[in-house]
Amino acid sequence: MTDFGLDNYLKLEAKQQPTWPDQAKLEKVRDQLAKQPPLVFAGEVDTLRARLAQAAQGNAFLLQGGDCAETFADATADRIRNRIKTVLQMAVVLMYGSSLPVIKMGRMAGQFAKPRSSDMETRGDVTLPAYRGDAVNGYEFTSESREANPERLLQAYHTSASTLNLIRAFTTGGFADLRSVHEWNKGFTENPAHKKYESMAGDIDRAMRFMDACGVDSEQLRATEFFVSHEGLLMDYERPLTRIDSRTNTPYVVSGHFIWIGERTRQLDGAHVDFLSRVRNPLGVKLGPTTSVDDVMRLMDKLDPNREPGRLTFISRMGATKIREELPKLVKAVRDSGATPLWITDPMHGNGITTKNGYKSRRFDDVMNEVEGFFEVHRSLGTHPGGLHVELTGDDVAECLGGSDAIDEASLEERYESVCDPRLNHMQSLELAFLVTEQLVKSTRS
Ligand code: PEP
Ligand code: CO
Repeated sequence: MTDFGLDNYLKLEAKQQPTWPDQAKLEKVRDQLAKQPPLVFAGEVDTLRARLAQAAQGNAFLLQGGDCAETFADATADRIRNRIKTVLQMAVVLMYGSSLPVIKMGRMAGQFAKPRSSDMETRGDVTLPAYRGDAVNGYEFTSESREANPERLLQAYHTSASTLNLIRAFTTGGFADLRSVHEWNKGFTENPAHKKYESMAGDIDRAMRFMDACGVDSEQLRATEFFVSHEGLLMDYERPLTRIDSRTNTPYVVSGHFIWIGERTRQLDGAHVDFLSRVRNPLGVKLGPTTSVDDVMRLMDKLDPNREPGRLTFISRMGATKIREELPKLVKAVRDSGATPLWITDPMHGNGITTKNGYKSRRFDDVMNEVEGFFEVHRSLGTHPGGLHVELTGDDVAECLGGSDAIDEASLEERYESVCDPRLNHMQSLELAFLVTEQLVKSTRS
């Protein structure tokens, strides 16, 4: 029997890995992880691949959203529910406006590890290892908390399991019933996007009552598919959570349905690309503004040599000022080669700023500008703008600037909670969904 070369990555450089102080403890944790039940099932992963293939063909739209970095402390019922509600609301806005099926996917139940631009962080005259996500070390700035602890990998697994349990309950247990579109708006503070949503929910209600009157009683309206995804960053988490599917005798990462490779770890000869090329999950790759046509073509050859529908998603994150310049050549070369990966936009990671009062933030207008650029590029090349990847929370935080309820720099001092990148709050997310819908309608009708 072949081992599928799953350990070939050990011979290659793996960037962005923690320095674990205790190798014996790490090995013990890896053994324990390898014995845990899968979080997701191969059959679900295959379903997702089929859905993404639809999106790549222009017949669906992917909505992927959640925290930049999930934390153990925030894996509470309320916070998870608010994030799910936000994604469901955005999806309904997109679906109702564009008449396209929307594939819902959380950056959830596994998004516990972060790549960092620097290994160390200095505050005043103290320098400590950088925070790499709750799966690795603690956010608190003390030497004890910042030391990498492999036990955290197990805690990441268990927190993912309980998060996923709640996601499954919310999305299949009646909460996601399309007859409850009004309910999803409850508990959020009044704001302009909220009102617009209420009015649309009224229209959906009428459509539901009409269908009831006609005797349509579709199970499809009661529950929804909801997939989970995270960046495949930590080899010591992903490798032990990879299993050989008994139906097909092929390897699947079972820590999430969809795994993406980050901008900092997509080296063609690196560990991440090699390892993930060997598993069956649909994969994403982030593409920043320095990506060349050659990089993209070689990534396709390595990760999707058979050009399998739904296998590969390119997530462009160019920045609002660069997207119109940098994206067209990549999309054009891929299109001309005959390949049809899914293209989605991440309008967050290329638009980071530091405010005058020292916060890491993003301007809502830049986010929107990048989204518009993404749609323009695809319209001009005749390709499908297939999805949106955003960092969001269902809570009323102030981390990104602007939006029609204008978050300003002073508000950041009061309601900034992210331990990593700034997220859109509930209202900004909803507002973005309405704006993206306008773009999507323009693209599908042109
Ligand atoms: C992220 O998605 O949180 C991230 C780090 O993105 P990127 O790899 O695009 O910088
Ligand atoms: Co981020």
